[in-house]
Amino acid sequence: MLNTECLINPELHGIQPFSKGKVRDIYDLGDRLLIVTSDRISAFDSVLPNGIPYKGKVLNQLSLYWFSQLTDVCRNHLITAEINDMPKNIQEYGSILAGRSMLTHKVKMFPIECVVRGYLAGSAWKEYKEAGTVCGISLKPGLKESDKLPDPIFTPSTKAVTGHDENISFEKMTEIVSKSISEKLRDISIQLYTTACQKALSKGIIISDTKFEFGWFDNDIILADEVLTPDSSRFWLSSSYKPGKSQASFDKQFVRDYLESVKWDKKPPAPKLPNDIVQKTAQKYLDAYRMLTGKDLTV
Ligand SMILES: Nc1ncnc2c1ncn2[C@@H]1O[C@H](COP(=O)(O)OP(=O)(O)O)[C@@H](O)[C@H]1O
Ligand SMILES: [Mg+2]
Repeated sequence: MLNTECLINPELHGIQPFSKGKVRDIYDLGDRLLIVTSDRISAFDSVLPNGIPYKGKVLNQLSLYWFSQLTDVCRNHLITAEINDMPKNIQEYGSILAGRSMLTHKVKMFPIECVVRGYLAGSAWKEYKEAGTVCGISLKPGLKESDKLPDPIFTPSTKAVTGHDENISFEKMTEIVSKSISEKLRDISIQLYTTACQKALSKGIIISDTKFEFGWFDNDIILADEVLTPDSSRFWLSSSYKPGKSQASFDKQFVRDYLESVKWDKKPPAPKLPNDIVQKTAQKYLDAYRMLTGKDLTV
């Protein structure tokens, strides 16, 4: 049996909040941010009442792993993930934060989600089936669901403050962040994806698609937010990959199947997950971490 302890709502008294997302709590330290990844999990756009043990640590440490693997492609926002190198008032919360937090530069975010797709899945498959295009980009006919694309494609979306992000064309993106920044973000995103894909595939994981966010800092483009985690990407097991149908989600399959089986209407609040689903899901996150990094999660 795995540990069942979860951190669902970390409380850091006296530290200025910056944003609270579905999964991460971010604190404002002036010119820096503290990003804390909780064990919260969302499915069908709702945060579930249960946490998943180890999930926050896996997500945080996967981002750290990818930052370290991708420094040659792009600078990133990480300052440190070592509690001892964080400000004194943060260190007080060391036992809560260890393994699940990072101190980063606060950067000026570009208001664009830089999505790269290497395979035909989700909304991209839906659009292709109906129109032969993905986010307006024409693709060759005859592709099946989950097929690998001839080349990865860049399909930006806006960062919606509420509700769903909206896919936009590359032209629209150039109106928002200029042509030269758009071209750079596109090229860096594709290079990050391609590099990560090769590494992941050699470990048995397909990265179907993923989303990067970038900011401007020190006169440079900086990779920010989380990187190549199961929350920002679609991971598939290459050993069970079969185009022509949708692929099981590496991490959330048990959760989604359970929620479908109890016929939840997908309106909040979501039902509580039984313990065996929580345990099996925790194991999936640990498996993803071990497969990708070749190491067991420590801390
Ligand atoms: N280094 C950074 N500097 C400034 N903002 C950042 C940085 N890293 C991430 N962010 C922003 O912090 C916010 C984090 O929100 P997030 O936890 O992803 O919640 P959600 O996406 O569910 O609203 C996002 O708007 C992201 O763009
Ligand atoms: Mg986000």
